[in-house]
Amino acid sequence: MQAWIWNEKGLFLLDQRKLPLEEKYVFCNTINKVRKAIKELVVRGAPAIGICAAIGFTIGFKNFLEKTRTKKFSIQRISEEIGKLSLLLETARPTAVNLKWAVNRMKGVCEKFLKEVEKQPITLKTLTKLYSILEKEALKIWEEDIEGNLSMATFGKDLIPEGGVLTHCNTGALATGGYGTALGVIREAYKHKKIFVFVDETRPFLQGARLTAWELSKLNIPYAIITDNSAGYLIKKGEVKAIIVGADRIALNGDTANKIGTYSLAVLAHYHKIPFFVAAPSSTFDLEISSGEEIPIEKRPSKEVLSCGKTRVAPLNAKAYNFAFDITPGNLITAIITEKGVIYPPYSQNIPKIIKRNEN
Ligand code: MRU
Repeated sequence: MQAWIWNEKGLFLLDQRKLPLEEKYVFCNTINKVRKAIKELVVRGAPAIGICAAIGFTIGFKNFLEKTRTKKFSIQRISEEIGKLSLLLETARPTAVNLKWAVNRMKGVCEKFLKEVEKQPITLKTLTKLYSILEKEALKIWEEDIEGNLSMATFGKDLIPEGGVLTHCNTGALATGGYGTALGVIREAYKHKKIFVFVDETRPFLQGARLTAWELSKLNIPYAIITDNSAGYLIKKGEVKAIIVGADRIALNGDTANKIGTYSLAVLAHYHKIPFFVAAPSSTFDLEISSGEEIPIEKRPSKEVLSCGKTRVAPLNAKAYNFAFDITPGNLITAIITEKGVIYPPYSQNIPKIIKRNEN
């Protein structure tokens, strides 16, 4: 089952709010629908929302061309439109930097094109050409993500020891272009050694219990779902040999934003002296920020905590906090696995060295 399908009609997103009980697609043929799908977690996971934002940008630009009655365009008018599309998408969710990264790439393509044609009249034909370039770029972002996943899986597989490995949230095909970051590493390691996966249920959206478990079932990789608060008990008993998670944004010093609960796992790993790995593509690194202090943490509606699925579980007047992410300090992370290689501390020195490698 594909996490999304993109064709001439628009983008069909497998509704991750409904998995695994229903396998239904949400159809998005406008930029506003793509934004809403990202905001409401129809699609989620840092790399996946970046790719969808690139596709959303392309859809938004296509709609602009379809709606327009003008035959000639000014660079200023086009730049305004590009600014509007970018803002709508990059503000859909605040924490994962992949959104901004993908939008910037699409914006960069537009700017380069407009510079090349600035001396000639800009017609609908010119802009149709830009549209097809945007379409290619979005597909490239998607393909590169899958390639990157495969490469990080190869780099990471040897780091995972035999035995129990614990993961949090969902970092598989649903959260990426198609293979997975942390779950991709687990998939690859499983081809070579005996592994059992402890899947944190990941309250309140249950990315672990619903999505990771769904993926692992399809892959025939042995696993058990555990409540988020079981990790300490299992680690103390010696059943967990390593922890591996994904990331939404990694600062220059290795501080990593990821699904709420990740920090507690890193502290546990440190205390019990088991390795704690992060797997993420270079699009998740934000080298403009020196530490996690600068990462905005998304706060989601309290109703997600007060209910379990559609059933209210808390008193009607109860208040809840629903932080979607937390920050794990770089000094609790054993290594960061990327498509460009494995990064070890000291992160402030080694992250730029590896992430800027082969940058064009
Ligand atoms: O709120 P979500 O489901 O988008 O959060 C996702 C995570 O925290 C993932 O661990 C992260 O985005 C990496 S996905 C490869």
